[in-house]
Amino acid sequence: MSSALPREPRRRLGLRTRTFLLVITCATLPVLLVTLRNVVRFQAALELEFTARAELVAQQLARGSVEGLVIEDERLLDEQLDAASESASAEHMAIHDADGLPVAWRGGPAPPARSCAEPSTQLRPDPAEELLEIERPVLDPKHGAIGCVRMQFSLAPVREDSREALLDALLLWLGVTGTLGALGAYYVGYRVSEPILALVDRASAFWASREAADESQRSSKDEVELLARSFDALADRVNTSLSELTESEQRLQSTLNAIGDAVIATDTLGGVAWMNPVASRLTGVRVEDARGRPLDELLTVRDPIGAEPLALPLSELLSEGAGPELSGRPLLIDGPLGRRRVVPSHALILDSVGARDGLVLVLHDVTEQHELQAQLAQRDKMDALGLLASGVAHDFNNMLTGILGGAELLRATISPEEEEDALPFIELISDAAERSAELTAQLLSFSRKSHVELSPVDVHASVREAVALLRRSLDKRVQIQTRLDAAHATVIGDRGRLLSALINLGVNASHAMHGGGKLTFSTRLREPTQLEIEVRDTGSGISEDNLARIFEPFFTTKKEGKGTGLGLAAVQGIIEQHGGSVAVDSELGVGTSFYLRLPLSTRELAPEDGDELVLGHGHVLVVDDERAARVAAQGMLETLGYRVTAVADGREALRVYAERGDAFALVLLDMIMPGLSVHECFAGLRELDPEVRVLLLSGFTRERDVRALRRAGALGLLTKPYTRVGLSRAVAKALATGDAPPS
Ligand SMILES: Nc1ncnc2c1ncn2[C@@H]1O[C@H](COP(=O)(O)OP(=O)(O)OP(=O)(O)O)[C@@H](O)[C@H]1O
Ligand SMILES: [Mg+2]
Repeated sequence: MSSALPREPRRRLGLRTRTFLLVITCATLPVLLVTLRNVVRFQAALELEFTARAELVAQQLARGSVEGLVIEDERLLDEQLDAASESASAEHMAIHDADGLPVAWRGGPAPPARSCAEPSTQLRPDPAEELLEIERPVLDPKHGAIGCVRMQFSLAPVREDSREALLDALLLWLGVTGTLGALGAYYVGYRVSEPILALVDRASAFWASREAADESQRSSKDEVELLARSFDALADRVNTSLSELTESEQRLQSTLNAIGDAVIATDTLGGVAWMNPVASRLTGVRVEDARGRPLDELLTVRDPIGAEPLALPLSELLSEGAGPELSGRPLLIDGPLGRRRVVPSHALILDSVGARDGLVLVLHDVTEQHELQAQLAQRDKMDALGLLASGVAHDFNNMLTGILGGAELLRATISPEEEEDALPFIELISDAAERSAELTAQLLSFSRKSHVELSPVDVHASVREAVALLRRSLDKRVQIQTRLDAAHATVIGDRGRLLSALINLGVNASHAMHGGGKLTFSTRLREPTQLEIEVRDTGSGISEDNLARIFEPFFTTKKEGKGTGLGLAAVQGIIEQHGGSVAVDSELGVGTSFYLRLPLSTRELAPEDGDELVLGHGHVLVVDDERAARVAAQGMLETLGYRVTAVADGREALRVYAERGDAFALVLLDMIMPGLSVHECFAGLRELDPEVRVLLLSGFTRERDVRALRRAGALGLLTKPYTRVGLSRAVAKALATGDAPPS
């Protein structure tokens, strides 16, 4: 990667140069000052020493001149001057007598007269050269001052020595400071500048790849400025990156918050690092409270089969190596939303070197989907059962008509002497046939396949009828009460089917109250147009698990052979066919209430059907392909006073009717026969005789066929199996319907 900040060329002084100068300036200036001070001192010392030596020579000359002056011997004085010249190189020296006249001298012409009472030493500044002038009196012990010695010395040699000393000191200073500066510069370069430049290189390399560098600007900077620039740029970049990161985090946060699934992220130890609001709702723990808590503490997980508690294999998933597969297998989670069914999926969070750094767990809630699927499966099951039921119902009811009819005929025809022996068996046959008929009716009811006769029904009357029947048949320890509070209780429906539903609920309640209890039927208006019938017991109650299944066909908790499990399925089927609904409320050990809700009707009630046998007369044509049913119908009608012609199919019926049409008061027409269909047969009969009276017979039929034939003029439908009383009343009613059938 190339550096975005080239280190060369740089116009400003670099850190090393500046350090070099700084060291020289700061560290060596005192050295220079001290050196100069010492040089000055050295110069003064030199001068002092020179003066002392000169004075000594002058003193010696003064002492040596005593004799020569006393005896006035010039030669002796010259010798003294020579000796003095050898000791010191004076510029000028002279010996003066007591009058001050020069007696002997050296260096230049004779000096002017001079006397000196006191010794003196003084510096005479000469524009050309500095001169040290020393005067010493020549003292004779007997005569006192007899003359004067005067010497002049040039200070030039002393000055020369001082200059040399200064030069040496300067050279030394230069050497020392140069070395120190160089060492300092090297140190700074090595310890400071290089790392700074390396840092600059690295800093610029960090963002050079993202942004073109401004070479012209950077090329003029020294290390520190470069570093500052780099850090500014880096800070800008970091700020930009931070705001980009914040934005991206916010985007991620919003996305995760918007996801409909629960999302939970953990750390390497399985503690919650983060979760979204859906997960918070699922676990019942607030997002901020969840942080750091172990995930298995927040999630109560169960196996979907058997609902056994399960532990999530978090540590296996988080440890290195392949963990167990968690994704895709449904789990149950218990929480504030109840028991939810979720499909988990997970992904590992990896750090920059690919090591496991945590786990993201996504829980997709499929509870509603699963329930819908279960409902669809249930509906499919019900449809299949309904199909099966309707498949057998027709034949079964035809046969039951034969059995029931045969038993009733037997009952009607036996002699009084035979009655005692035969009657119990006849009852047995009738009961078994009736129970079988009820079973078939229930099968058809739960699959909503049974025909419901729609007429205004007084529910209060039905409840009273059911209570009367139950009082007769239930354990006497069961107290049955009614509280019929609804002001209005007329619904449109099938009286028989509604009665059957109430009896079913009553029987179930009595079964739940083993040693007795209270069974209450009450009614109330739930809404102005809705009637509620409550059937409450003080029985064992229903467990939560069973409560979800009681309406399933064939679900029973009774011993084998004791219950079919069709009762409640049929009740629900009947009530729903009436446009209503069933609800249940139960508490274990306290009791159960079933609520039947039905739409109210304002239609007038039809007069109550009685239950007495109605005898009649006239010629009846019975058309039924099923021999047992045909024979039973014929036999029963004949015992009721009718004349009967029975045929086995539609074509035969038309032929017989064509021959003696006017003779027949009524045609009993079975709805399902091979050959000519019921519609064709009915149309043929209407063609032969537009006023023909037709009462339909059916063991099982499609609702819309009945409606179509009723619209076409059929007088009613008598469902098989029927009793003799039922047949007698239906036939009498059909014969009494106006003088002519409705068209
Ligand atoms: N009132 C009630 N109290 C307690 N449990 C009830 C009550 N009603 C129904 N159940 C439960 O619901 C189950 C199903 O009832 P359902 O009437 O459909 O069938 P069954 O009564 O078992 O059989 P069958 O109705 O053919 O006699 C019963 O086995 C029973 O466990
Ligand atoms: Mg039951």
